[in-house]
Amino acid sequence: MASSNGPTTDLKGTFLRVYSDLKAELLNDPAFEFTDGSRQWVERMLDYNVPGGKLNRGLSVIDSYKYLKEGKELTEDEIFLASALGWCIEWLQAYFLVLDDIMDSSHTRRGHPCWFRLPQVGLIAVNDGVLLRNHIPRIIGKHFRGKPYYVDLLDLFNEVEFQTASGQMIDLITTLEGEKDLSKYSLSRHRRIVQYKTAYYSFYLPVACALLMSGENLDNHIDVKNILVEMGTYFQVQDDYLDCFGDPATIGKIGTDIEDFKCSWLVVKALELCNDEQKKVLFDNYGKANPANVAEVKALYNDLNLQGVFAEYESKSYEKLITSIEAHPSKSVQAVLKSFLAKIYRRDK
Ligand code: IPE
Ligand code: MN
Ligand code: MN
Repeated sequence: MASSNGPTTDLKGTFLRVYSDLKAELLNDPAFEFTDGSRQWVERMLDYNVPGGKLNRGLSVIDSYKYLKEGKELTEDEIFLASALGWCIEWLQAYFLVLDDIMDSSHTRRGHPCWFRLPQVGLIAVNDGVLLRNHIPRIIGKHFRGKPYYVDLLDLFNEVEFQTASGQMIDLITTLEGEKDLSKYSLSRHRRIVQYKTAYYSFYLPVACALLMSGENLDNHIDVKNILVEMGTYFQVQDDYLDCFGDPATIGKIGTDIEDFKCSWLVVKALELCNDEQKKVLFDNYGKANPANVAEVKALYNDLNLQGVFAEYESKSYEKLITSIEAHPSKSVQAVLKSFLAKIYRRDK
């Protein structure tokens, strides 16, 4: 029915329609007696926090599932199910971001004030985060109960959520150590943080969802997982870079990593490259809210040519990833991984 370039294959349009369906179901969940006021709150909260991003993670579930079916046309039902899982990942992301912005004292997200910054919202955002998280098993329960992979799907989301929350924890508690001694920050610490806080949910989870839908056992795809975790690490290095060097109008958020004392890839590289004098500048200015201190750190990053160091890292990572992807025995898995990498290579948002 869907022609190869007709409007029915406008993937993003289809995907967004599924969002409206899922939202309508959640707003009429029989497990809660909604009032008009509570229904309106949830609707506004969802529209503000769930669909406004790039949607890469969600769309990747459908893309990956297509590749795994090796060109066979997807049925309407398959498109709906892959989209629903894609949205579960977008919901998971919204949940983490609503809380992450509070913890990181951020100001903007996706070009708007962070949800908790809205005067009527404030710390109600904490419970909204909890609600977003609870919507996921509501969606999965409604649409996947009875599927042979139902339990695996729930296990997968639970495990990845645990890994992400643990990554967020080490991201946050590492700053306590950095405040005592900045030189504790290292590439190995950075790697551990970003692997857990970003790579599993952003890269492994979409492909794992597609694999489960295809009837695969995830234990047989550890090699795919390893490559995706590598890709996710590269993605978070880009995020760290853009936090300082990206254009806020393009990335939709204003960086706070320097102010927040984060163990960012940039500060780790700066520590590796600086002389004693520059080290003192870093120690004196890193992790302070005053814009003058932040400007000193950014000037140091420029002196050390971190933009050039990053460009080098970026092309090296790309080559390494392509090499490991091409070593994979399955052509359709290679296609999934390459399309994922193409979406993020040299991104500016
Ligand atoms: C947070 O990393 C990752 C999760 C939300 C789990 P960051 O704190 O670097 O994300 P941004 O830069 O605020 O988007
Ligand atoms: Mn953040
Ligand atoms: Mn960031």
